[in-house]
Amino acid sequence: MAVGTVGMTREIVNPSLGNFISSLRDVGYTFEIAVADILDNSISACAKNISIYAVHQPDLVFAMLDDGIGLVEEGVREAMRLAAKNPADERSANDLGRFGLGLKTASFSQCRNLTLVSKKDGRISARQWDLDVLTERNEWLLITPATDELESLPLFKELNSLETGTLVVWRKVDRYEQDSFITEISKLKKHLSLVFHRFLEGRNRIKISVNQDDLKPFNPFNPDNNATQIGTATKTKLFGSDVVIQAFILPHHSKISQQEFERFATEEGYTRSQGFYLYRANRLLIWGTWWGILKAIDSYKLVRIAVDIGNDQDRLWGIDIKKSTAKPAPEIRKLLATAVAQAKEKGWKVYKQRGSKISDSKVIKFWNVVVTANETKFSLNKKHPLFSAVCRLSDNTEMLDAYLAGIEKYIPLDAILSYLQENPFHIKQESSISDEELCKIIDKLRESGVSEDFINSVLDTELFNDKRGSFDNAS
Ligand SMILES: Nc1ncnc2c1ncn2[C@@H]1O[C@H](COP(=O)(O)OP(=O)(O)OP(=O)(O)O)[C@@H](O)[C@H]1O
Ligand SMILES: [Mg+2]
Repeated sequence: MAVGTVGMTREIVNPSLGNFISSLRDVGYTFEIAVADILDNSISACAKNISIYAVHQPDLVFAMLDDGIGLVEEGVREAMRLAAKNPADERSANDLGRFGLGLKTASFSQCRNLTLVSKKDGRISARQWDLDVLTERNEWLLITPATDELESLPLFKELNSLETGTLVVWRKVDRYEQDSFITEISKLKKHLSLVFHRFLEGRNRIKISVNQDDLKPFNPFNPDNNATQIGTATKTKLFGSDVVIQAFILPHHSKISQQEFERFATEEGYTRSQGFYLYRANRLLIWGTWWGILKAIDSYKLVRIAVDIGNDQDRLWGIDIKKSTAKPAPEIRKLLATAVAQAKEKGWKVYKQRGSKISDSKVIKFWNVVVTANETKFSLNKKHPLFSAVCRLSDNTEMLDAYLAGIEKYIPLDAILSYLQENPFHIKQESSISDEELCKIIDKLRESGVSEDFINSVLDTELFNDKRGSFDNAS
């Protein structure tokens, strides 16, 4: 039997908004990433001062106020629209946005009620999304709040006293318990001090405060410390845009105070903070990853490489809507791999080099590190002058050899590594022989009638070298 043809028909099937929004809320923002996304908009709007307030009224309310260029009523409505802008559009060089989503997705990830209030041309305009209303009505129903509601918002008075500016308020905050509030605020401050450090430092710096506490910049490369090794910045053109790469090696723990060492370890620790630091239009987006170009191993734990890009390469870098992950294209990976190879060539293995740095000078070491293609071995230096002196005095060098072989074989490598990672400052090997005991050794050697050349070679060993001055004159 022939099937009768039926003309094409179409019907609109709207998403179930409640479910859609629930999924949108779970794209993976953390509180601090969400706040940073709101601040991106303030910086793009040329704000010089940003105030963040967290208040209990009695429920938790977050308010973020900037003194940027502000929006007129139409602008406020458009700003509240999801996907308000085409991601393919070119943006001005200092615009930190891309997708036309951040204000909404970041806010919804943390709260169920978002109010945007802005002042421009002497007028205040406001709009509000309430997820409960959306869910109930199953419609994108944008609210214009009543004046008395606006006036009750935290920081509204401050907005009103500005020439221009914008206020974002989160109510019905439901993403964390009130007990974790202090921890969240402290995490937030650290995050903002890091990701916006370039905006917080320098001559045209902006001011960001969290509950009236002004944030200080945290530059993850510690460039002001003389012990930081700073590579030269290299500029490369990639698909018509500049990429600037610069390697930094942070100071070894022996070169700085414990407090400073721990500060630059960051919350994540050195091992997880090594790698590339990607800045997009000066805003740190992603850090602590080698994108698979290198393995994150201990030897590289002090190496951090700054990569600077503009806001016109997002697709190539595979930047996601939260702007917190990237998947660089093969061409970029190639460029990064070359930068890594060059930096490596210049000798960035500070961790390993501590031993070899000592051998750069004429200091005689107790330990040799023998590296071959098949194995690496730590062995005691049998040419050490103190070892020769002891052999000369002893009639049973076989016992001594056996003892030293035992020390070599049972060197507690795993324990050393784990204690070093946990807290290098807790290990105090240096204090095992006092200066007085060292003096006695030199005196004893002199009494035994050895030559001054031999004494000199002992003074060239690691034990004595630091304090050479005090032993040269000893007799
Ligand atoms: N604080 C603000 N001051 C002035 N304009 C703002 C502010 N916040 C948002 N806007 C306007 O609203 C628009 C939408 O913001 P939204 O964060 O949703 O997207 P975006 O910044 O364009 O892109 P992205 O999704 O990458 O953040 C912005 O492009 C901007 O025009
Ligand atoms: Mg944005």
